[in-house]
Amino acid sequence: MLRRVVSKVGRAPVARRVVTSTPGLRETTRRFVGGEDAPSAVITAEALHEQGLRSTLHLRAGDVHTAAEADEHVRAYAELATRLSSAGCGPASEMSVKMAQLGLYAPGGWHGAVARLREVVAQAAERGLFVTMDMEGDHEVDQTLSAVHAVREEHPSLGVALQAYLRRTEDDCRMLAHAGSRVRLVKGAYGAGSDIAFTTPEDVDAAFLRCLAVLMDGQGYPMVASHDMRMIDAARRLARESGRRSPEWELQMLLGVRSHDQRALAAEGLRVRVYVPYGPEWYGWFVNRIAEKPANLRLLAHALLSRDEIRATEPV
Ligand code: FDA
Repeated sequence: MLRRVVSKVGRAPVARRVVTSTPGLRETTRRFVGGEDAPSAVITAEALHEQGLRSTLHLRAGDVHTAAEADEHVRAYAELATRLSSAGCGPASEMSVKMAQLGLYAPGGWHGAVARLREVVAQAAERGLFVTMDMEGDHEVDQTLSAVHAVREEHPSLGVALQAYLRRTEDDCRMLAHAGSRVRLVKGAYGAGSDIAFTTPEDVDAAFLRCLAVLMDGQGYPMVASHDMRMIDAARRLARESGRRSPEWELQMLLGVRSHDQRALAAEGLRVRVYVPYGPEWYGWFVNRIAEKPANLRLLAHALLSRDEIRATEPV
């Protein structure tokens, strides 16, 4: 309920104006976003790398309704890949992309989006970077998986996110647990009915653990994306039991969420990657993070009252 209210209020134009123009508040948002453009995102990635963390960068630009807008995203990812490579971020950075931003809903549909995905992955590969596909709503799952399957014929390093809350995902994990396959396991950020999804937190957690066991037991490269310490502990135990050492799997978390734990886990020798959203449409992302955890409103209130810059490293 509170999540819905925060999300609705946060999206009001007046809220956007206040957050983006009030000194202090604007800086606080930087805790969760890597800036408005590729140069800022690369600086954020470099700062993470200096702390022993890896990064995956995701462009937040406007909705894509035309082929020209989707092409613009391809150009933006090419620019990002070039900048990451010039900054020497190659092995420690990768890029996260979504089917919708590559034109799934533009003229040309799935075929156009796959052609653009091929281009993004090829440009990244030339610069020594990997790409992972985010997973969107349940209607996009088949289209995303078939796109990944098609592009992997040429670029087997292309990774994909799978959402534990969908009932189908345990089977998808089995299908994708083969050698060379990079799978990011998440709980899932989109809602769906009980016919196709688990709808209670307990059932989603149980599904996450089953999927995790399949991936850890398989031959692929599991990327465990969660801030839930119970899931992280389970991942560490399952990795141990299946004889995986640290570079044979990794943890992922969002920029600004549990930053202290990110650094502590990396200091223990685990591979930890931080998801860094950046771009002109960073604001929508920011509202989602606040809505996910309304306690984050405390940070905003503090910034508004004190106008102090909140350190980007402060734990939530
Ligand atoms: P859970 O929601 O149970 O949170 C566990 C704890 O983490 C909370 O109690 C809180 O302490 C902390 N926490 C979580 N979110 C927080 C926040 N915003 N601020 C402060 N604390 C917070 N989803 C999807 O559908 N498709 C995708 O492609 C991706 N990709 C993706 C990449 C990466 C790197 C991550 C970390 C997550 C995603 N997700 C995603 C989102 C994912 O599905 C899920 O919604 C969130 O990670 C929250 O779930 P947790 O596993 O963290 O557990």
